[in-house]
Amino acid sequence: MVYISDLHKYVDQEVTLKGWVSNKRTGGKVVFIVLRDGSGYTQCIVELENVGEEVLEVAKRLTLEAAVSISGTVVLDERQEGGFELKASAVELIHAPTQDYPISKKAHGVDFLMNNRHLWLRSKKQWAIMRVRNRAMYAIHQFFQERGFLQMDAPLLTGNACEGTTTLFATDFYEKEAFLSQSGQLYGEAMAMAFGKIYTFGPTFRAEKSVTPRHLSEFWMIEPEMAFYDLDMDMELIEDFVKSIVNDVFKDCKEELEILERDTVLFENINQPFPRVTYMDACKIIRGEMEVNGKTSIQALEEDLAAVHAEIESCKAEIESTEAELAKGGMKKGKRNYFQSKVDRLKGRLKKLTEEDARNIPEWIEMAKNFPVGEDFGSAHEKALTRVYGIPIMVYKWPKNIKAFYMKTYDDDPEFVKGVDLLAPEGFGELVGGSERETDFEILKQGVIDHELPMEEFEWYLDLRRYGSVTHAGFGLGFERLIMWLTGVQHIRETIPFPRYYGRLFP
Ligand code: 4AD
Ligand code: MG
Repeated sequence: MVYISDLHKYVDQEVTLKGWVSNKRTGGKVVFIVLRDGSGYTQCIVELENVGEEVLEVAKRLTLEAAVSISGTVVLDERQEGGFELKASAVELIHAPTQDYPISKKAHGVDFLMNNRHLWLRSKKQWAIMRVRNRAMYAIHQFFQERGFLQMDAPLLTGNACEGTTTLFATDFYEKEAFLSQSGQLYGEAMAMAFGKIYTFGPTFRAEKSVTPRHLSEFWMIEPEMAFYDLDMDMELIEDFVKSIVNDVFKDCKEELEILERDTVLFENINQPFPRVTYMDACKIIRGEMEVNGKTSIQALEEDLAAVHAEIESCKAEIESTEAELAKGGMKKGKRNYFQSKVDRLKGRLKKLTEEDARNIPEWIEMAKNFPVGEDFGSAHEKALTRVYGIPIMVYKWPKNIKAFYMKTYDDDPEFVKGVDLLAPEGFGELVGGSERETDFEILKQGVIDHELPMEEFEWYLDLRRYGSVTHAGFGLGFERLIMWLTGVQHIRETIPFPRYYGRLFP
């Protein structure tokens, strides 16, 4: 048995592929089967003259997702998907679906697809997303392993709240209340004091009682922690890290990104420096009080809105003229279908433009103009801020009262902490949150008290400031947020095989 991804090694040779029928077209004496085997997709041509009546009939009767074994000769053909096709000599049915496969080419509702997630994962777009995920995961381990970081696993059952008490999942631990971990960071800090540079890559849990396109209840986080690193070194590492993953994925996932129709201009330009902006400047930029590259965020959003209105007009005109052509009649079937699908596509685009963009952008402009300085950014504010840059940016020096208890206070500006968020452009928002950690025993202890955290659960953590306390820093990258951004998918639920979010524990 040969995998589709290895076909390049077998040009003009006879191979046997095993997989599933993902598409089928039938002519009189020929059946075209697009076979998928998990490693890729390839077209198999089953022709009467090569296989005989009986096998041709088997091929004709194949339905979507039938499991088959197909033998044949590998033919180099650059016009074909994957660059090859298989001239079949034999087709063997392994399993015929007992019912019609529920997922077809027609548009399905999201709930239907999520309820059938176990099958939806076989679709091409999902295939591409999961492969990007896999490549990114590998890139992350490579990045840290090559730089002398020790991988560690933090516990998932904990007694403490790292990121505040509002998003904890409580559970019972032998009659004692325990929580599912929100972050491995505190344990990572202990390990950094033992091993210097460490990273975790594990599941984390946040009880987010609403469905947003960017929040999961269970998500994976990568958290490095480095002894003797300050905030600047932390930001340097974040930047290198993100660039490295993007470069690896961009290099190795060309086919996947093409399937996903990801605009990759951004990835081509990723190696320029990421701008670093203080929170206070970011507020000015959001509110339109400070220009970046000769433009305010409000002006940039107004330009976007004008472009949306212009596209709405051109869309309407094109629909009208295409419908007029269709109304004339007398067209061949192929041409009529082509025009009809063009109208459908334009109507879909028009719907998005009028019902989403033309409504959302004015709202974002209002929210950006009225952003209350001192508060955390919402998604509209992040959109305004990142819009003027077009590459990832790092916002640092945050107000103490909106950040976690462990962040290091500025000695000369105690209302601010040495925290940093990396924000991705194109509306994807916060990918990374990190900080230099508080080293001062008294300030940290006060932080535990001020955040109303149970002191007895944090005593061990305070020990790290009792014995050889040193400057240290780290960050957390939300893995599914990263995959969203890399793949360009608009909802985080598609970036993990079986997502868990408010209202979804199935399948
Ligand atoms: O900013 P957060 O809350 O930071 C921490 O947890 C720190 N302990 C990290 C550290 O310094 N070691 O979360 C880090 C990242 C966010 O930037 C975001 O990308 C992601 O985790 N994230 C989520 N992703 C999906 N669903 C959610 N509900 C998320 N909450 C945070
Ligand atoms: Mg954060």
